[in-house]
Amino acid sequence: MTTPSPRRRTVAVVLAGGTGQRVGLAIPKQLLKIAGKSILEHTLCIFENSPSVDEIIVLMTADHTAEAERIVAAAGFEKVSRVLPGGSTRSETTSIAIRHVSEGLAEGEDVSLLFHDAVRPLLSQRVVKECVEALERYQAVDVAIPSADTIIVTRTHGIDGEFITEVPDRSRLRRGQTPQGFHLSTIRRAYERALADPSFEATDDCSVVIKYLPDVPVHVVMGDEYNMKVTQPVDVFIADKLFQLASSTAPSPAGEESYREALTGRTVLVFGGSYGIGADIARLAEGHGATVYALGRSTTGTHVENPEHIEAALATAYAETGRIDYVINTAGVLRTGRLADTDGDAIREATEVNYVAPVNIARSSYKYLAETHGQLLLFTSSSYTRGRSEYSLYSSTKAAVVNLTQALAEEWAEDGVRVNCVNPERTATPMRTAAFGQEPAGTLLSSETVARSALDVLLSGMTGHVIDVRQQNPASAKSGFDQAIASVLSRQETQEL
Ligand code: CTP
Repeated sequence: MTTPSPRRRTVAVVLAGGTGQRVGLAIPKQLLKIAGKSILEHTLCIFENSPSVDEIIVLMTADHTAEAERIVAAAGFEKVSRVLPGGSTRSETTSIAIRHVSEGLAEGEDVSLLFHDAVRPLLSQRVVKECVEALERYQAVDVAIPSADTIIVTRTHGIDGEFITEVPDRSRLRRGQTPQGFHLSTIRRAYERALADPSFEATDDCSVVIKYLPDVPVHVVMGDEYNMKVTQPVDVFIADKLFQLASSTAPSPAGEESYREALTGRTVLVFGGSYGIGADIARLAEGHGATVYALGRSTTGTHVENPEHIEAALATAYAETGRIDYVINTAGVLRTGRLADTDGDAIREATEVNYVAPVNIARSSYKYLAETHGQLLLFTSSSYTRGRSEYSLYSSTKAAVVNLTQALAEEWAEDGVRVNCVNPERTATPMRTAAFGQEPAGTLLSSETVARSALDVLLSGMTGHVIDVRQQNPASAKSGFDQAIASVLSRQETQEL
């Protein structure tokens, strides 16, 4: 019997040695903050979370290595083994990485290297996985997408400007992205030859292999349109919008044992806990060993619109159990209708229950959650991304909840308090039945499914996320930005709420 050969180790090399002159700010563009995190941190997160990647090294602009080290330490990235100063060109940065990885290897050992631009923070896990798999078969791998634009070749004629010399066949043109992956032995050989060539110049690494090792085939993995390189000022804006609107998929179910381990001896408060999703969260958390305070108008007389009720509920739970670990708010009201026909009471109710209540719950919970490094979990609706006719109060208050989540996740990060927001697909709840009547069986998510995902979020390390809970089987679910794009398209068709 043959033992299967162990998987080749994969090292992700994050190239962050540039200065970002085209963006034109005083700090390197990889340190710009988008959606609460530096671009560099977003990129490192992708490799840290990839099961295909074993180790990460960061090549940082020479006078900003301390900043990169701080980012790595604060985020607790366990796979990052080194932060090294980059070179004066991208190729020089690459060769520093090649030298560093080579020095750490045993005689005859080879690894797969993935070189990735730090300024491509929207890389998908699919592409990482496919690159690593392709490196099992090929020595060199590129990532590219078809070009939607016609690409022209030009020549400049002095003061008359540019003129077209060629229009290559678009069907064969691709736009190169990163990562670019290589067996270390291959890219090292290519660079040895390149560095001996006085006219060597390159802006990427596949071209080095193509020029200096022409016999090595470079396999192409399909990239993603959104795997953009933040290059021009407008790209900072576009990347920011993509992060702002993208939601995350629910984490994989933690399983009974993990629920029990994480919830036993913990104190959980659920505002809006008397029915629907809130009641299911309360029941599940209690079933797994938590002390749960399920608070509701009809059961405990707790009105979330009343800040004193919120304060009192928290103070009681703390006095009785000595701790508060998780605070969840599922209370919400959904009334549809044209704004001009809506009276003052309905406006007050919608804004107070859907928006002011989460604000007050957050403010009052903070000191308790800071003690336990706990989590605040809020609820939004898919309508948060865009308001629409007859839902003005509901969709705008739900958008405000997402914004509140993002702000608090940043504000409380240093205290170790996490804040997330669940965005359930259409769910069978009494609130929904009151608004829309009975809907066909099978078209709605059960409130228990949403409640289980809420527990998974509580147990995860996420913060500042909008977590989509959808009906499709998680195994086939699209991830990250693919999911966000699919949601936007499906909402166009179904006008889903
Ligand atoms: N890079 C690097 N070392 C360099 C130059 C670039 O590691 N000496 C990295 C950048 O940090 C970036 C990627 O290579 O993640 C792509 O670089 P690019 O955006 O083209 O270059 P920058 O120098 O960062 O930007 P600009 O050309 O606008 O100055």
